[in-house]
Parts: sequence; structure tokens; C-alpha cells
Amino acid sequence: MTSDLLSLTKPDDWHLHLRDGEALRTTVPHTARAFSRAIVMPNLQPPVTTVAEALAYRERILSCVPPANKFQPLMTLYLTDTLSRDEIDKASAVDAVVAVKYYPAGATTNAENGVTDISRVYPVLERMAELGLPLLVHGEVTDDRVDIFDREQQFIDSVLTKLLSRYPTLRLVFEHITTSHAVEFVLHQPDNVAATITVHHLLYNRNDLLAGGVRPHFYCLPVLKRDSHQRALAKAAVSGNPKFFLGTDSAPHGRTTKETDCGCAGIYSAPAAIELYAEVFESHGALDKLEGFASFHGADYYGLPRNSSKITLRRNGWQMPAEFGFADDVVIPIRAGNSIVWQLEKL
Ligand code: DOR
Ligand code: ZN
Repeated sequence: MTSDLLSLTKPDDWHLHLRDGEALRTTVPHTARAFSRAIVMPNLQPPVTTVAEALAYRERILSCVPPANKFQPLMTLYLTDTLSRDEIDKASAVDAVVAVKYYPAGATTNAENGVTDISRVYPVLERMAELGLPLLVHGEVTDDRVDIFDREQQFIDSVLTKLLSRYPTLRLVFEHITTSHAVEFVLHQPDNVAATITVHHLLYNRNDLLAGGVRPHFYCLPVLKRDSHQRALAKAAVSGNPKFFLGTDSAPHGRTTKETDCGCAGIYSAPAAIELYAEVFESHGALDKLEGFASFHGADYYGLPRNSSKITLRRNGWQMPAEFGFADDVVIPIRAGNSIVWQLEKL
């Protein structure tokens, strides 16, 4: 029997881009309306590389949380070739900082300051493994000669496997996985290795990006893959396996930087994220698995308490606005101008 009401423990978003400055007035309320906590990515310009910067950024985020919402940003540091072990010790000692983000240099938006060679950060990774501080991995190689659709698989083979055999106890989240290879890899690792899955990689494949015209608002990194990978991700997400949990990678860019000859990567899903995950889980006959994926597995992995409050989704079609103001530009959300099945009840 299908129900028109869905109640679940308030979810958390374990991978989110909020940006900074005026943009926070748009992004923070969109996430805080539905999620209790979110892991905030550090790829600002310049990147967040110290605990002091992370705590200052956290305050700027908190100042944009609407009074009716309770929302806790969980901060991350951006791993560079020169991040010190000392800073790792500081991060580990502060509850508000929960992880370190690893971008291979040049892999994506604001990844210029990322790691140029993984061996340069071995001392830092060793310390993280000792302290149990998770490493959040953007898993794509950056070699121009590697086809963009193969970059995640190559990363598994040439970087990740070696990294985990060197540091087998390192807590590692393979972020926004996009391929069956990544699903298989994670399934074969011990409990210290987990993965986030975005809603856009569950809903869409590369036809949505490229067939019948180029759609810049479907362009993200890692890029959407073929439908067999999309199906493998869905199977993992709805499986109930605690290694897989919700991370939207909601990544807003102003319209003028998306609809241009060299558009930025990122899909802005926050305004309908939990609603769209519900749509995906329902389409796989697995609404009963949504709560684990959205509200339990991530908290358990990070060793944080599960949320105690609830949200309610109602089957009550609504239309996503065509755009939202975004600093001095606008941002085009996922499903802009189109209908969405599930609606979040106001708290
Ligand atoms: O599509 C993406 N956008 N992928 C990333 O890895 C970064 C993100 C961003 O910050 O815009
Ligand atoms: Zn991201």
C-alpha cells in the first residue's frame, strides 16, 4: 500500500557546499529547512585550511540559520601539500571540525590548492589514522590523458587501493561515488571505509546531460555516468548497507557562470534534496530504507548521535521555482520550474 505521508528521523547531509558571504543567505536556509546537520566543504577561495578559519566560517553560516530551524554545520579542513600534523591535532580536538577533505589538485571547482602528489601528505594521513579523523575523498584522477568518464575508476586503481593498503585503518569516505566500480570497491572494504551518494547521480545519467542538447545545469563532477552505473548506485543506496549514506554535494553556482562557454561544475539540489531522495527510493520500492540512508548510517559512521526530531514528507506535488537569488546573480536549482512529488511539511 502506498502512503501519502512519510515520517522519518530528521536527516543529515554528509557532503554540502554552502559557499560564503551573501550566498549563505540563500544556501543555509535551503539546507536548514530539512537537515539537522551538514558536513560543509572547505573549497572556498581561499580554501579553509586552519581550524581558526573553519570556526570563523562556521559562525558566518550560523548567522544565516533562520530562527525557526535548528542546524549544526560540521566543518572540514582542506588538505594541501603543506597542511601540518599540528593542525590535524588541533582539528581532532575540536568537536566542530569533523574531517579533512582531499581534492587531487585541479580535480574540480576550487581544487587548485589540492594535493599534487599523495605521498606529500603521508605524514598527515598517518596522524589522521592514529586519531581516527576521517578523510573525505574526491576520487578522480586529474591526468588529462584519462577519459573523463574513467577518472573515478582510475583513481580507485592508481590511488585509493594503495592509500588504503598503506593506511588500512584510515577512516575514509569515498565522496559522491558515481560508478559500479566504486560501489564494488566500497563493498569490499572494512567498516572504516564508507561512501556518500548524491541525489543527482541517483536520478540522472549522462543522457540527461548530453542527449538532445547540452544542459549545463546537469554538469557536475564527477560527471554523470551511463545508466548501468546509475542503477548500481541506486542498488547500493536502497540496500540498507550502512556503508552508504546521504551526501547531496549540492553545489550552487551563479547562472552566469553555468550558462557560458566554460561552465562550472555543480548541481544545486538543496531546495529539494530530501524530497528527491524520497522520489528515488519510492521508485525502487524502498521507501522503508530511506531513513537508514538519510538519518542513521552517516551519524553512526561519524560516531555522532542520531537525531531525535522528525520530519514529515507529504505526497503533495509542488513546483520548484525557476531560480533563486544568489548574491548578485541567480542560481538555477535542480528541477527548476518542474514538479516534485514529495513536499516537506513546515516544522
Ligand atoms: O560538481 C561539483 N561541484 N563537484 C565538486 O566536486 C565540487 C563542486 C563545487 O564546489 O562546485
Ligand atoms: Zn563536493
